[in-house]
Amino acid sequence: MSNPRSAPTDERQLAAGPATPAAGRVLVVDDVAGNISLARSVLERDGYLVTSAANGREALAAVVRDHPDLILLDVMMPDLDGFETCRQLKSDAATRLLPVVLVTALRNTQDKIRGLDAGADDFVTKPFNAPELRARVRSLIRIKRYTDDLDSAESVIVSLALTIEARDPSTDGHCQRLAAYAAALGVELGLGEDDLAALERGGFLHDIGKVGIPDSVLLKPGALTRDEYEQMKTHTVIGDRLCGELRSLRRVRSIVRSHHERLDGSGYPDQLKGDAVPVLAQLMGIVDVFDALTTSRPYKMALPPESAHEELVREAERGWRQRELVDVFIKMSTSGRLPAFYAASVEPSVATGAARMS
Ligand SMILES: [Fe+2]
Repeated sequence: MSNPRSAPTDERQLAAGPATPAAGRVLVVDDVAGNISLARSVLERDGYLVTSAANGREALAAVVRDHPDLILLDVMMPDLDGFETCRQLKSDAATRLLPVVLVTALRNTQDKIRGLDAGADDFVTKPFNAPELRARVRSLIRIKRYTDDLDSAESVIVSLALTIEARDPSTDGHCQRLAAYAAALGVELGLGEDDLAALERGGFLHDIGKVGIPDSVLLKPGALTRDEYEQMKTHTVIGDRLCGELRSLRRVRSIVRSHHERLDGSGYPDQLKGDAVPVLAQLMGIVDVFDALTTSRPYKMALPPESAHEELVREAERGWRQRELVDVFIKMSTSGRLPAFYAASVEPSVATGAARMS
């Protein structure tokens, strides 16, 4: 039986679980073993947990396995070189915030440009200058810790949104559907990457403020009283306040606050009119109505998509929504380009249920 005491430092600590050493985890990637030893001797003295890989492919696998806080990546390697490895890490949402320091033997401007193009965060040259290497690693890991905190704050908010959804089993999957519908509508309209990301996050977070609405109102099976309706309306403002603390959610805030606004000023919470209603919030409003109508709730049956389309057209004619946006949505939906969630929840011979104020 193997004795864990005899394992090398990095294996022993990894086997102990996901605990991160105080200074951080560094993955050193180099096809020359001597270079790895050199970097290891400098970094381990500062308390880093150093793991290693001998080429780009091994490095990509090691990132998934070891969750490093930083990669020291040699440029000149056979097969998958440092530039390509870096490019792959930076194009994957799961690893794009992982700092990559490219190690090059050449003081070559062309290499630096290629490295920057590949998304590298910094460079060091071989042979290592120990104080310089330690300073770079220290500062990049500090930034990484900060972005980790941002990410985890956001994941807390998303978990909270899903918890709220779980309070009301009748809306099961609503957040996920809205995220998919809204992003699909954004693609249809040719919106940019940032807007598409905001629409997807907005789908999950639009009703996050319902965390502040009591169950007696949120889960009430019948129509709401005037007071209860006023209380329900505050979910937009509560949600805006919750997201307001996070810089990474600033594009999502307008969706959270304004997804119940109507272009004629009869919506809430700010009675915005016309172009003052943020476009992303308008898009969320359209898919929110579609989803609410095509799924069953305790107080109503699900409608087929065609009836939901008709309702959206009526709302546009009433001056609540932009007709062009509604038309784009309907065209997308009728031509089968809407992510297919609703089929399972629509009952074929449904009666029109009484709409509820919400
Ligand atoms: Fe809402």
